[in-house]
Amino acid sequence: MVTEKQKADLVEAACAIREFSYAPYSNYRVGAAILLPDGRIITGVNVENASYGLSNCAERTAIFKAVTDGYQEIMAIAICTENGGSPCGACRQVIVEFAGDIPVLLSDAAGSVRETTLYTLLPDHFGPEHLN
Ligand code: THU
Repeated sequence: MVTEKQKADLVEAACAIREFSYAPYSNYRVGAAILLPDGRIITGVNVENASYGLSNCAERTAIFKAVTDGYQEIMAIAICTENGGSPCGACRQVIVEFAGDIPVLLSDAAGSVRETTLYTLLPDHFGPEHLN
């Protein structure tokens, strides 16, 4: 169960970390924050590259940081962009690897938040259960 306070903290963390986005090519700055089962929050930003295809999305940066720190379960995710954009398909697939039908909070830079869920964004998904 994710509380409203945890959701608000997650959005705040995603919007705060967005400042460190490295997006000189698209100028589309993205911050992400994920909530872990012990209440910890881990953040990420998009990191672009002069070789454009090597760019990494904010959501995946946060998830890879969390896995590196020993976490393999995500309770909620917040994403902060200029215009409240939704996560790309690749990131939806990466999130589903480590989460059930978790809350997904989409915030714009002004702090307006839309809440949806992971399975709404990626129905009928392929996941680890299909390989065991
Ligand atoms: N981006 C993200 O960080 N997350 C998404 O879910 C969508 C796209 C980044 C990638 C690139 O640096 C910029 O936004 C424009 O596509």
